[in-house]
Amino acid sequence: MQKIISPDNIRTASDPIGIFDSGIGGLTVLHQALRELPGENFIYYADTLHVPYGEKPKEEVLGYIADGVSFLDRIGIKALVLACNTATSIAANELRSRYDFPIIGMEPAVKPAVERTKNKRVLVLATPLTLQEQKFKDLVAKVDNEKIVDFIALPELVESAEKFQFDPDIILPLLRKKLAHLQPEVYGTVVLGCTHFPFFRKALIEIFSPFADIIDGNEGTVKHLKNILQTKNLLSTGGKGQVSYYDSGVPVTDTSRFKKYLTLLDEMGK
Ligand code: DGL
Repeated sequence: MQKIISPDNIRTASDPIGIFDSGIGGLTVLHQALRELPGENFIYYADTLHVPYGEKPKEEVLGYIADGVSFLDRIGIKALVLACNTATSIAANELRSRYDFPIIGMEPAVKPAVERTKNKRVLVLATPLTLQEQKFKDLVAKVDNEKIVDFIALPELVESAEKFQFDPDIILPLLRKKLAHLQPEVYGTVVLGCTHFPFFRKALIEIFSPFADIIDGNEGTVKHLKNILQTKNLLSTGGKGQVSYYDSGVPVTDTSRFKKYLTLLDEMGK
């Protein structure tokens, strides 16, 4: 396949970093990135018209991702974070062969979870599409020698997050029902394998504490992004960066919806 080499093929440190998600989940990654990389400019792309991805046919979602990344390429990004486990699992390899900018993907943190869990089990929470992909099955097959990894799809949480529905009186019963067949005490680590899920950390702690730790891949992803930019001499360190938001390619003028989520993450201390 032909690689798309963007207009001048020259990336500079002041170019923005694209952060892509089906919706608001990638804000949990952006939030971490703003902390770690305050001098960077970001373009946040939420595919608001097509969220959720996790329950749609793979071919359809591939088309949405291709459109979104092509849009970000036309703007001229120096790196792309696929701040979406679902998009990473179905499209990261194909996108890497297509574009010349670095693409940082996200996958459920199964390996670190297995390594840190002693005498207990690991529970991975993700979208149906992520869990049914070969990439996830291969990952589990590679690291789960002791057969301690369980997984469950929680697409309901994506929908709740998109609606800014975090009321514990609604979320806790929903989670208890979905997890009713599991025994919380057998788990040592719960992996948040979807970027929408860190918003529900408190509710999950309520269910799994004091037995399990709850981990996500956001910190590692941002560290990885920083390393790549450093290696390529593309790190922007001076001044304060800007964030522009796009809903499926349309510039967002009233950014209050996105800011509300970032404020919630501030309040959560995450
Ligand atoms: N935030 C996404 C993920 O990390 C996808 C959620 C969805 O659109 O279903 O998997």
